[in-house]
Amino acid sequence: MRAWVLVAAAAAAALLTVAVVRARDPYAEECKIHEYPPTGPTYKGTVSNYIINLDLPPSQRWVQVVHAKKTELLIVMKTIKDIFYTFVHSRKLIASMESKLAWLGSTLPYPFNEEIKGIASAVEAPLGDVVAFNIFYEIFTVCTSIVTEDTSGKLYHARNLDFGLFLGWDIQNSSWITTGKLKPLMVSLDFQKNNKTVFKSSNFAGYVGMISGVKQGIFTLTMNERFSIDGGYIGVFEWLLGQRDGWWMSFLTRTVLENSTSYEDAKDKLANTKLLAPAYFILGGNKSNEGCIITRSRTAALNIKNLDTKNGIWYVVETNYDPWKPPLVIDDRRHPAMNCLNHTKQEKISLGTLYNVLSTKPVLNKLTVSTTLLEVSEGHIETYLRDCPDPCSPW
Ligand SMILES: *[C@@H]1O[C@H](CO)[C@@H](O)[C@H](O)[C@H]1NC(C)=O
Ligand SMILES: *[C@@H]1O[C@H](CO)[C@@H](O)[C@H](O)[C@H]1NC(C)=O
Ligand SMILES: *[C@@H]1O[C@H](CO)[C@@H](O)[C@H](O)[C@H]1NC(C)=O
Ligand SMILES: *[C@@H]1O[C@H](CO)[C@@H](O)[C@H](O)[C@H]1NC(C)=O
Ligand SMILES: *[C@@H]1O[C@H](CO)[C@@H](O)[C@H](O)[C@H]1NC(C)=O
Repeated sequence: MRAWVLVAAAAAAALLTVAVVRARDPYAEECKIHEYPPTGPTYKGTVSNYIINLDLPPSQRWVQVVHAKKTELLIVMKTIKDIFYTFVHSRKLIASMESKLAWLGSTLPYPFNEEIKGIASAVEAPLGDVVAFNIFYEIFTVCTSIVTEDTSGKLYHARNLDFGLFLGWDIQNSSWITTGKLKPLMVSLDFQKNNKTVFKSSNFAGYVGMISGVKQGIFTLTMNERFSIDGGYIGVFEWLLGQRDGWWMSFLTRTVLENSTSYEDAKDKLANTKLLAPAYFILGGNKSNEGCIITRSRTAALNIKNLDTKNGIWYVVETNYDPWKPPLVIDDRRHPAMNCLNHTKQEKISLGTLYNVLSTKPVLNKLTVSTTLLEVSEGHIETYLRDCPDPCSPW
């Protein structure tokens, strides 16, 4: 696990250095208003749909989707290994980490351990690589999520998934290497029991935790990374040392999407379950004012910011900073998103206008893999792959 620490420390150091050096965002632009339906240079295509049959044994559930995406998944796992290699410069250390990660996989809770094993055997990859891919995401994401309510009380939820910060920059075409490789791995998933949809999600093929999803008529859910000095990844180390009472955050979101049956229950689980690392959960319900950002430390909800339409709060926006604090000056996606929502106005809120907001730089940036739009009453989800040609903010 030493490489993880190195990568995380390098990332933190880089963020701090840049924070001192640069002040204003030179890439900001006027709010986009004609991006939807998606076309043009920032639209890179749509994603395919797959069914995950929860009636199958966990080891069988992902076989169809990872067979279809085998090449892409193997490329991403190799990229992750290459990145480690640039940090540790030792094939031997990588091999030893691979076997430690395989062991880590066996300590993960059911059904995730079994699903990950099934994926590894379906694509004939070392178990450790699939485990690394599944916990990788917990560490390197920066995102923007929005829950909003229109004037009729209908709820909408949308998110940009930004991934790959500091994981290698391709100088030739000025893009993040991992971000580019992840795009073909994005899929839309329909989780079913008894041939009926339980929830829908957009996700990476072979990633068993959930990052965005909708449960029809009940709630929508996304999670964003919370970089926090206190607490950080101590939970992950405790897990390695055998203290395993906390939850991996994307496993919690998956369990909530699969098994929670009300907005209140989802909110309670997301706010009160002990986690391995800090996180933001962005939850939308199916009724007026059901929408919130839950700011989590490992053990508690530090703050819950709710929609409050009577007092003019008809949206909540979360990037990767605590809602009660200003965002980092060099990474302010919050104010541009709020500014564009204000320009849109509550009367005009729709999936299309939310797509416009999420298409405005720097909310859209070079880390953006995809934009996902969720509508709870119809249980609707749509996902688009994104591109951000120059000039465009690197994050
Ligand atoms: C950048 O170039 C690499 C190959 O050098 C390619 O795989 C990737 O798709 C390119 N990215 C973009 C955004 O064009
Ligand atoms: C689901 O549908 C398929 C074919 O439509 C059928 O063979 C299968 O038995 C059904 N499964 C359940 C659990 O109802
Ligand atoms: C969700 O909200 C819609 C109205 O926006 C309503 O028609 C529907 O019955 C609600 N669904 C549930 C399960 O409450
Ligand atoms: C949801 O609950 C069922 C029944 O208790 C359980 O078998 C399943 O593993 C749970 N799902 C997750 C993702 O934890
Ligand atoms: C958006 O509007 C709200 C409410 O009027 C205001 O408090 C906020 O400062 C505005 N934000 C931006 C970035 O324009």
